[in-house]
Amino acid sequence: MSQPREHWGSNVGFILAATGSAIGLGNLWKFPFITWENDGGAFVLLYLICILGVGLPIMMAELLIGRKTQKSPVGALKEAIGPWWGWVGAWGVMAGYVILSYYAVVAGWSLLYFVRTVGWSVGGFPAGLQTGDLFVEVIGNGGLQSVLSGLFMVATVGVVYFGVHSGIERVARVCLPILFVILVLLVGSALTMEGAGEALVFIFRPNFSELEPGGILEALGHSFFTLSLGTGAMITYGSYVSPDRSLVKAAGAIVFLDTLIAIFATIIMFSVIFTVPGMTEQVGGSTAGMLFISLPQLFYEVVPFGVALGPMFYLLVALAALTSTISLLEVVVSYFIDERGMARPRATLVSGGSIFVFTVLSALSFGAVPGLSNFEIFDGKAGVFATLDHFASNWALPLGGLLITLGVGWFMTREATEGELVDETTPGWFHYGAWRFFMRYVAPLAVAAILIAVIFFGVDFS
Ligand code: TRP
Repeated sequence: MSQPREHWGSNVGFILAATGSAIGLGNLWKFPFITWENDGGAFVLLYLICILGVGLPIMMAELLIGRKTQKSPVGALKEAIGPWWGWVGAWGVMAGYVILSYYAVVAGWSLLYFVRTVGWSVGGFPAGLQTGDLFVEVIGNGGLQSVLSGLFMVATVGVVYFGVHSGIERVARVCLPILFVILVLLVGSALTMEGAGEALVFIFRPNFSELEPGGILEALGHSFFTLSLGTGAMITYGSYVSPDRSLVKAAGAIVFLDTLIAIFATIIMFSVIFTVPGMTEQVGGSTAGMLFISLPQLFYEVVPFGVALGPMFYLLVALAALTSTISLLEVVVSYFIDERGMARPRATLVSGGSIFVFTVLSALSFGAVPGLSNFEIFDGKAGVFATLDHFASNWALPLGGLLITLGVGWFMTREATEGELVDETTPGWFHYGAWRFFMRYVAPLAVAAILIAVIFFGVDFS
């Protein structure tokens, strides 16, 4: 039944793949928007605290469970903690399934906008084109939406099909460097813009009187999503690390890079927004608004070298999304391989195909099919897409994260976790005692607070 477990070809390959999982639409699409909604500075600072105090320790915990057991989440949690904990793994697999199904829809938009901006850069931006109307037309077009998200799923399946080393790691090695180069070019261009100064002040000067309690929880909730925690994605990636490699350093690198990119994305977006008079009133409304309505046009009006940088930007979004969809699919695929004894090719096609059914349902839920667009299970969240996003961000990730922290902090022995984290490669900044304290007390209390807020106060993180 069991094939020998695949491993990453190198430590750099592993770090790039995991960083690729972490960096995604969460960084480029969600983070700038929630920073905007929460008035910048103080929220950004809080987010950084959540990343360090909760995200980083849980990142280490997920990776260590994976490396220790060399299994995907269901088997890994059973072996590392206890038989019942397999259900926590199964909950994670289900969450990965749900997130991928709607994530692929937004990823599909990035493909379309890449093609569109290439066209505009070559042929000129059409005079009088209203990007807002264009976007409404795109999302209301069921056929187009299904084709776009379908193309994205095919690409994802195509990579995961070839496995850990020749598929996932190889693509990360190509995509991540390209992604960094494009981002640095964009930040360079953004910093020369008139609004750059105001943008930096907005992002980095904390003004705590502006911060609302909901913002604290939003920062915490987002730190799970952006680091790919709570579904066992990092358990899965950790299970392909061979036992002689340092996890602590890798976790530090992944978390650092993910945070850096989120900050870069906000600098780029706010520099543009603060440069255009009147833009600050127009933003708002929706997350999609910034990326797919305001920005496309501004590349041709205000961004220095925008003609070249516009298409590059949407390429960046698509590549960042791809390395994340790969990790989401891998969580599901590794379950079928490890727990159901399927061969990888079959597991990949079965998972990808069945997830795509839900992707189409999400893709059609922006008006294309009224029955899929209008129902409300959660208040104010109409349609399949909004329902799935709300369920994943508010329920699935925090609950999965809470159980994983409790399991590692309270049900694994000190010896078991210390042995995984501390060895001669462990960097000097890491203190095992501090990590254990954060895992046992700080992280579970913080995550429990999110859940309580969601359940009793109706706070919304999606
Ligand atoms: N972290 C990715 C982002 O920021 C999304 C993602 C990929 C994810 N894999 C995940 C989120 C697993 C939660 C769980 O866009």
